[in-house]
Amino acid sequence: MKLIVTGGCGFIGSAFLRLALQRGVERLVCLDVLTYSGRRENVAELEEDKRFRLVTDDIADAEAVQRLVDEERPDAIVNFAAESHVDRSLFDVKRFVRTNIEGTLCLLEASRGMREKTGKAPRFVHISTDEVYGDLEHGDGRFSETSPIDPRNPYSATKAGGDLLALAYAKTHKMELVVTRSSNNYGPRQYPEKLIPLMITNALTDQPLPVYGDGKNVRDWLWVDDNCEGIWAALQKGRPGEVYNFGGASERENLDIVHGILKALGKPESLIRWVKDRPGHDRRYAIDFTKAKTELGFQPRANLEQALVETVEWYRRNEAWWRPLKGASFQAYYAEHYGKLGLKQ
Ligand code: NAD
Ligand code: TYD
Repeated sequence: MKLIVTGGCGFIGSAFLRLALQRGVERLVCLDVLTYSGRRENVAELEEDKRFRLVTDDIADAEAVQRLVDEERPDAIVNFAAESHVDRSLFDVKRFVRTNIEGTLCLLEASRGMREKTGKAPRFVHISTDEVYGDLEHGDGRFSETSPIDPRNPYSATKAGGDLLALAYAKTHKMELVVTRSSNNYGPRQYPEKLIPLMITNALTDQPLPVYGDGKNVRDWLWVDDNCEGIWAALQKGRPGEVYNFGGASERENLDIVHGILKALGKPESLIRWVKDRPGHDRRYAIDFTKAKTELGFQPRANLEQALVETVEWYRRNEAWWRPLKGASFQAYYAEHYGKLGLKQ
């Protein structure tokens, strides 16, 4: 199989690239423009593999995308590329619209373009998120694939846009396309602005751990390699035009996660700092993944408490990976934008 994987220099995409090489793909092209969260070091060891090629272009550049698809003629495209952080979407919406909606459109159009030229479009897996369903209260049920789409922040709204556009192409243009919607991932190489890596790296350096609101928001944590296994299965056998939810069967309140990290590092709870809540902060996400289990054999394997300790260990051993990311420019960015919102004071 020849694959184009977009956003492969990011957190989940780079884990998926490793899996794809292990599974014996014939050719693997990573299309990534290397934004702040796209790290070339995430694919450094893969660059030694002759099957692998890194192309640093923007998925929202229609010509560049069409050129690459025509040149590679892939059997499939897996689209991870996105602006992925809710907090950044509060003040940088245009970038989210461009990548998450227009970028997805360019990839879909390039796939149709390939069909015009060769008679066959690549299979397409679009990586979406459970956040398109909006939020739940404690005690509500879980999101299934038929739950209403009800995004509540600019990140999830733009992800919903790309997701629905992809599904529309599956129907209108009869593309072999599958959408996956997973819950919050965790594991090595996640950019240290998301809850788990931010808290780990702050605790490692004895910086305050900023907990939003009352700390009781709930996320269903999914080990990154479990998500990648699900995506691989969706690529192989997902039914065209269908959506598959992936969850970790590990719902936890944020404060439980923070306590787990402090315990793993032997750091004091006095590092916790209560800060103003994120505007439009979704209360709870919870996933029903029965469909993925039945049709794809998806099953999350990780135990959250053990895998969280493993994640903490990865950051402890890989300071050279994250330390430069928390330097002056990261601090300046936080001070400027979060300061304006009155967040993380
Ligand atoms: P990430 O921010 O770590 O990586 C995103 C990657 O996309 C980076 O390598 C970046 O350089 C690249 N990229 C961004 N804009 C691009 C553009 N215009 N052209 C080409 N490349 C571009 O994100 P992640 O956490 O790995 O998330 C990957 C995907 O999974 C995203 O679509 C995200 O919405 C989805 N998702 C993430 C989570 C999670 O918990 N992290 C949960 C559910 C769904
Ligand atoms: P995040 O990792 O940004 O993922 P998402 O908002 O996409 O679920 O945040 C996870 C949870 O942690 C969310 O409820 C917000 C909360 N949070 C904090 O309390 N403090 C922080 O500094 C961050 C980044 C997140």
